[in-house]
Amino acid sequence: MSNSFFPLVLLMVLCTIFSTSAQPQENPSTTGDAVFTLQVPTLDETTLDNLLSFGYYRKSCPKFESILHNKVKEWIQKDYTLAPSLLRLHFHDCSVRGCDGSILLKHDGSERTAEASKTLRGFEVVDDIKAELEKQCPNTVSCADILTAAARDATVELGGPYWAVPYGRKDGKMSIAKEADMVPMGHENITSLIEFFQSRGMTVLDLVVLSGAHTIGRTSCGSIQYRLYNYKGTGKPDPTIDSKYVNFLQRKCRWASEYVDLDATTPKTFDNVYYINLKKKMGLLSTDQLLYSDPRTSPLVSALTAAPSVFEHQFAVSMGKLGIVEVLTGEDEGEIRTNCNFVNAY
Ligand code: HEM
Ligand SMILES: *[C@@H]1O[C@H](CO)[C@@H](O)[C@H](O)[C@H]1NC(C)=O
Repeated sequence: MSNSFFPLVLLMVLCTIFSTSAQPQENPSTTGDAVFTLQVPTLDETTLDNLLSFGYYRKSCPKFESILHNKVKEWIQKDYTLAPSLLRLHFHDCSVRGCDGSILLKHDGSERTAEASKTLRGFEVVDDIKAELEKQCPNTVSCADILTAAARDATVELGGPYWAVPYGRKDGKMSIAKEADMVPMGHENITSLIEFFQSRGMTVLDLVVLSGAHTIGRTSCGSIQYRLYNYKGTGKPDPTIDSKYVNFLQRKCRWASEYVDLDATTPKTFDNVYYINLKKKMGLLSTDQLLYSDPRTSPLVSALTAAPSVFEHQFAVSMGKLGIVEVLTGEDEGEIRTNCNFVNAY
């Protein structure tokens, strides 16, 4: 068996184990279906499951994807740090009340005002795309669809994989800060991360693969300082971090407002080095490092370190799943916002 083939097989075996144990409600006679987690969902599947479709704007706004693509590219060329920020913004949107644009709402007490949202960025990109779309096809494209597509295009701009996004998400009208504070912040245990993902229809594999988004982007030092100086009152740093890396971080993170790359090795490249870092005790968030020490997730981390192409492929699949979490699609559900920052007044 060739070197690159082995990890693929291992991952497929693991997928089978994980998806059958994570979704006991599914017909047990079709366990072979687990292998489908390695494939892009078919058009039929996606359409039937949640009423989204790939041709949703084909008539009403045929230029939607090209308009959006040009805008995303333009913004990222000016400031490439916006690319990871858009990806994270989409994760935070889908994590609370599904992918409904509720993270974009700006009123008092909205998700956007929550503690967990403090370092979110990229709102101006979404606003700019929306403004252009309102000129070209007014009242047609939802903010939730814009954010989903922008996250995909940002990933591609960074050298990550492409996946087809089905459209038709409506924008929600509710946004509550307290709910946004349930999004993991990096100090949770693996059990609560698994529960968080499973309650949104995602598996342990999706958790491990989507955490791989931390192969790009940054964290504010405020999120990790507790690991660097006086971890759990010991007066010492977290012993699970490599000592040279701790040294570097202590110098880099004197102020909470500073930023540090999540992937210390290849911060600007969308690759599987994030997983290789975990093996070297160089996971920046405690939740990153725990993925390699917990027996429920570490075999998947190991498999992904050995197989860059499997990571790319599975990332696309898992992003597809993230993008359909609790979407609003019914006639009487949600709306097409005119301005992504506010619910429509009429
Ligand atoms: C598994 C649970 C997760 C936890 C605990 C977590 C936590 C965090 C934290 C604490 C930060 C830094 C925030 C700061 O600036 O202080 C961050 C950044 C980031 N996260 Fe996650 N995250 C998780 C999952 C995800 C997922 C699923 C994605 C996307 C698919 C994602 C994409 C990102 C990106 C791209 C950044 C960098 C943002 C930037 O540079 O602006 N994360 N995450
Ligand atoms: C994990 O975290 C949750 C929520 O904080 C807590 O209730 C639970 O006891 C923790 N589990 C373990 C195994 O530490």
